[in-house]
Amino acid sequence: MEKVILTGASDGIGKAIAIEFAKRGHTLALMARRQEKLEEVKALCMQAGASKVLTVPIDVADEEKFGKVLLETDDVLDGATIFIANAGVTGRSNFNDDAWATTKQCLQVNIMAAIQGLELMKLRMVKRKSGTLCGVTSIAAARGMPTAGPYSTSKAALAVHLETMRLDLIPYGVAVVDVAPGFIDTEMTKKNKGKMPLLAKPGDAAVVFVDGILNKKRFVAAPRTWRWIYPIIKMLPRPLFESLAARSYKKIRG
Ligand SMILES: NC(=O)c1ccc[n+]([C@@H]2O[C@H](COP(=O)([O-])OP(=O)(O)OC[C@H]3O[C@@H](n4cnc5c(N)ncnc54)[C@H](OP(=O)(O)O)[C@@H]3O)[C@@H](O)[C@H]2O)c1
Repeated sequence: MEKVILTGASDGIGKAIAIEFAKRGHTLALMARRQEKLEEVKALCMQAGASKVLTVPIDVADEEKFGKVLLETDDVLDGATIFIANAGVTGRSNFNDDAWATTKQCLQVNIMAAIQGLELMKLRMVKRKSGTLCGVTSIAAARGMPTAGPYSTSKAALAVHLETMRLDLIPYGVAVVDVAPGFIDTEMTKKNKGKMPLLAKPGDAAVVFVDGILNKKRFVAAPRTWRWIYPIIKMLPRPLFESLAARSYKKIRG
């Protein structure tokens, strides 16, 4: 039976991942800012078959409180076996006076808080010589995506951090999983103006993610087709990538 700490569990992909773990009978600690939404997800998880569900209201961008609450939650669970840094916000390229403020907000949640959680749980899991650390990145980590500067940057940084952690943790028996959603139909993507190829439902993606996490895969993409498209995007010669990017930029910006 796994004991899972999951951030960003009140909505979207996190909510779907929580319910999928619950269907398989695991224990969950659900973190996000909106307590009432967490309680709704808890009820759905208990109905679905979770053995135990804790709700932990927390703003992961509050470094001091998040660090404290995360370690307390790990203690309450008597050692989480899986930690998933899923909480994330979108981050558009911004040409207004608040460009740095919006960029910083995105980097704070998507990089700083995610890596803080992973680093704190890494130390706990290394001591226990077991566990799985997961970060929810994105296919937007593959290249610098047009109009999504801060977001692409944040996800690429997280993906690289996960890769390094995986190599560092081999001797300690701790697995590291890069969970990379394609386009998933959530509140986050409702704001997108461009085309969203292979748009998937959160519940369908969660089945793929939870299978991958439980099997300690290095990289799990959903929908699965992105597993093959992602490395191709990464390898595209720069002029070809830039001309494709310019076309999609035109569609988004008009
Ligand atoms: N949807 C997609 O197509 C897609 C594609 C690639 C990657 N992703 C990644 O998948 C993850 C989940 O995205 P989603 O689509 O499910 O987004 P979403 O529906 O907007 O949900 C975001 C979740 O993160 C939580 N969150 C945001 N800021 C937080 C903060 N400061 N402290 C604590 N929790 C916070 C939100 O909870 P509260 O508001 O209650 O705090 C919510 O539970 C993100 O990392 C996102 O970047 C999504």
